[in-house]
Amino acid sequence: MCGIVGIINSKDLKLKAINVLNKLEYRGYDSAGVSFLAKNKIKTITEVGKIAELSKSLSSDSYSSFESVIGHTRWATHGIVSKNNAHPFSNQKISLVCNGIIENYNELKLKYLKSHKKIIESDTETIFLVLNELSKEIPDNKKLIKKLVSIIKGHYAFLIYFSNTQEVFSLKSGSPLSVGKSSNGIYFSSDSSALNEYVDNIYHLKDGDIIRVLGQDTSFLNSKNVNFEPLKKTSNEFSKGDFKHFMIKEIHEQPLVIKNTQKYYDVDYFLDFRNKLKDVSKELDSFVFVGCGTAYHACLIAKYYFEKYTDIDASCEYASELRYKKISSKKRSIYVFISQSGETMDTLMALKYVKSKGYNTIVVTNSLESTMVREANITLPTYAMKEIGVASTKAFTCQLLALANLSIEVGLVRKNINKKEYLQLKKDLRNIPAKLIKILKNSSYIEKVVNLLSSSKACYFIARNIVFPIALEGSLKLKEISYMHSEGFAGGEMKHGPIALIDKDVLSICLNPKNELYEKSVSNCEEILARGGKVIVFSSKSLGSKKNLLEILMPKENYIDTPFIYTLPLQLISYYFALNEGTDIDQPRNLAKSVTVE
Ligand code: AGP
Repeated sequence: MCGIVGIINSKDLKLKAINVLNKLEYRGYDSAGVSFLAKNKIKTITEVGKIAELSKSLSSDSYSSFESVIGHTRWATHGIVSKNNAHPFSNQKISLVCNGIIENYNELKLKYLKSHKKIIESDTETIFLVLNELSKEIPDNKKLIKKLVSIIKGHYAFLIYFSNTQEVFSLKSGSPLSVGKSSNGIYFSSDSSALNEYVDNIYHLKDGDIIRVLGQDTSFLNSKNVNFEPLKKTSNEFSKGDFKHFMIKEIHEQPLVIKNTQKYYDVDYFLDFRNKLKDVSKELDSFVFVGCGTAYHACLIAKYYFEKYTDIDASCEYASELRYKKISSKKRSIYVFISQSGETMDTLMALKYVKSKGYNTIVVTNSLESTMVREANITLPTYAMKEIGVASTKAFTCQLLALANLSIEVGLVRKNINKKEYLQLKKDLRNIPAKLIKILKNSSYIEKVVNLLSSSKACYFIARNIVFPIALEGSLKLKEISYMHSEGFAGGEMKHGPIALIDKDVLSICLNPKNELYEKSVSNCEEILARGGKVIVFSSKSLGSKKNLLEILMPKENYIDTPFIYTLPLQLISYYFALNEGTDIDQPRNLAKSVTVE
């Protein structure tokens, strides 16, 4: 949940460090810092707040007398948000940054820092101080690093600099770290795409790797040289273009990225995938979908798709729950992990857990250089391009596309749907971008919705069947970027308690696609209106005008495209309400884009 950068033996260190840190800011933005490095000299600057604050503190100096720099942008796990807890931790001998959590830091504090008077709040500061203590008995830095690795437990990625030898050590266990090499230096980053403009070759450290850099030499501590591979570069999505925020840019990119992703699936992906699927899906009893947050909502949609198009059992698990569950190794299941970043710790640990039980695993991800891609048996990629906004939008709808395609591929392989039905469903998927473009063009309702939200104390999203997960997703979007209290409910559940929440200050947003549950969903709206509640209804069929009712007409839907059609307006209303509220839309408080800690 933090971002690490290292630029070793290079020039223009300040400019490059700030540039890369800006691209890593989505990983956490509570505080930031850099250490400029030279022989027997370390200069560290840290600031609370965003990279812009740090950049202001650096503005005067050029730092041209230094050869290297390490930096960090933090999402606080242990220890409050403060300059003292900002990384790097340093003195004139050692500077260190870390992404992750050291689980046994209290134990280490008691063992190695008994005489230490200063209050130590964070796990990383503990490791920094322990390293200094150990260096008194172990002068050789390689041996010292090996000792450190042998005593720490947790998920981490470190960069550690020793000013006496100018060695840089990178350690990786659980958190992502990549290293790139070019003619003007060696570059480290938690996210390799942040190095696109500096390197053409990359190595993604594996768990247990320790890489030592001295001069232009990069080598494993205990074996041969590092094998760099070409870095797959995506076009520069780190700019907002003409949009005010990454989130609204990414909302508007959905027709294009869905079109591109579907084209990829149609042209060649599933040809190869179908063969792999044949091996795993014939003797299978069930698919288990696993994710967190928005990705979990995609799991819920996958369940509806599988129930509709296949005869195979489908279930969903929160990754954070699954990883601690007892699962038998006898069931003939395959686990599908959904993760935009491919680095979410809960999802990654759940993936490793089910693999240890002997199950096949598929990962649906937008990050093709991620740890989950390296861990899973099969990757089902989405091509949403880089998603910077913390609130997931285009990555989510591309996950839905991947899962819709997966369900009909499985249905075809198992002969639950025939070729004609399959081809029609493929056609329906290819028609989604046109429907989304129509929705994006018709935004006249947004101002009214923002006004209704502004005059409400809470907002509930209500839906049934395949749009129930979209009600949950719409509620999460509203919560995470506008901080307004909200919940999503299954329509049939309202009368079992939640309807008690309804009064004249509460806004209910109902999703009523014209399907077999349409009439029931209309009843939900009527019951709320009858109790003085305000209702917004999204539907492809008009309810007619009623007091306290705002209806917004949607394009005609079929089953497979319903989740896409009803997700988009909810993303838009959350965005424009948050804009009205003045919150930090791309980097909402307390959140980060990739939750790589427990
Ligand atoms: C989505 O808007 C949230 N930012 C969050 O719920 C996110 O979906 C979740 O943390 C999972 O992230 P992942 O897809 O990268 O695993």
